[in-house]
Amino acid sequence: IMIVKTAIFVSSNNRVDKLPAARLPEYAFIGRSNVGKSSLINALTGNRNLAKTSQTPGKTQLINHFLINDAWYLVDLPGYGFAKVSKSSRATWEKFIRRYLLLRENLQCVFVLIDSRHEPQRIDLDFCYWLGENRIPFMLVFTKADKLSALKSQSHIEKFRNALLQWFEEVPAHFLTSAENRLGCDELLAAIDEINTN
Ligand code: GTP
Ligand code: MG
Repeated sequence: IMIVKTAIFVSSNNRVDKLPAARLPEYAFIGRSNVGKSSLINALTGNRNLAKTSQTPGKTQLINHFLINDAWYLVDLPGYGFAKVSKSSRATWEKFIRRYLLLRENLQCVFVLIDSRHEPQRIDLDFCYWLGENRIPFMLVFTKADKLSALKSQSHIEKFRNALLQWFEEVPAHFLTSAENRLGCDELLAAIDEINTN
């Protein structure tokens, strides 16, 4: 298993041309606002104060880089699907994040976070489809597992994977996680470690 020895905040950016040099492998966390991206980054690194979290959706607004073990980056992204933002700021989000995802050459894998409490949501399925269409590697991370029974979360995971099978021959790997009790965190770190060492 991989041990996180150091996790350091590097930068917050609103422009793709200002990001840290693309010399180290990088893993981005994305998903709906409030799904738990920042909380999971904190759980993975064992530092509750690393990424800023909030009960109110829309907390993370920039591309945040965290350097892990001096060897790779975890990237916290703003969420999508936040109902309260205006059409124009949504369009801005789209341009900026999609540019990042399409252009970042050291991006090894995108972790798409999905709230395990819900039935498959169109916006998450569409986002996965867009990643697939653009050949951006991704894995699925179901969050907040501590909030529901294992039976329920398994059923939601199954439905989500089945929905993806309409488009993909193979559904990417998935993890069931909780930032509250660290469920799935070591497995997720092991997956990153495996990509790093290959
Ligand atoms: P934005 O930055 O706004 O897009 O949100 P985010 O996806 O980064 O979510 P964030 O980590 O800020 O968490 C949102 C809320 O969900 C906070 O109140 C967290 O405490 C809560 N939360 C996140 N992960 C978990 C989890 O695994 N279990 C429980 N019970 N609550 C969680
Ligand atoms: Mg956040």
